[in-house]
Amino acid sequence: MKNILFSVLLTLSFLPSAFAVHPDCGKTELTDVMKEMKDALKGYKKALKQNDESAMKTHSQSLYDLSLKSKDYIPLRITDKKALSAEEKTKYAHYQKGMEKMAESVKALINATDNDARKKALAVIGKGNKKGHKAFKMKCKK
Ligand code: HEM
Repeated sequence: MKNILFSVLLTLSFLPSAFAVHPDCGKTELTDVMKEMKDALKGYKKALKQNDESAMKTHSQSLYDLSLKSKDYIPLRITDKKALSAEEKTKYAHYQKGMEKMAESVKALINATDNDARKKALAVIGKGNKKGHKAFKMKCKK
């Protein structure tokens, strides 16, 4: 019985580290770029509802530029250091590939000329966003 109690206590004592959150979580430069992406996407959806093609063009172009800009930042979940290990370099390369794919999906949105194609492109962007976050985004709150 004592042994069980001891094991339980030992397990519990390790739990907090499993729930620890990085102090910079949600405060990185990449987070700022991502927030701009969110605004651009929101702006695009609003423009789509209003049939404002010029605003659609502006927002989709900035979403494209921001996707490429994101490639220069290393997700916190990979590392918070500037020097990367071999494994981290591989992960970062995957992240950059994901962002390139996102830029390609945004290109389809830029080139869409009817609402059907626009909605389809938005759905692909939404999926890429989900996939990218599942793979690379650190959860800030538990
Ligand atoms: C339209 C596409 C996307 C939008 C609108 C978007 C939006 C966001 C937002 C709102 C945040 C959280 C900001 C906060 O904490 O308040 C975030 C974080 C993050 N996103 Fe995205 N995202 C998109 C695509 C992607 C993709 C494709 C990837 C990966 C390939 C990605 C990787 C990340 C990472 C790693 C973070 C955490 C920031 C860090 O590590 O410093 N996102 N994103």
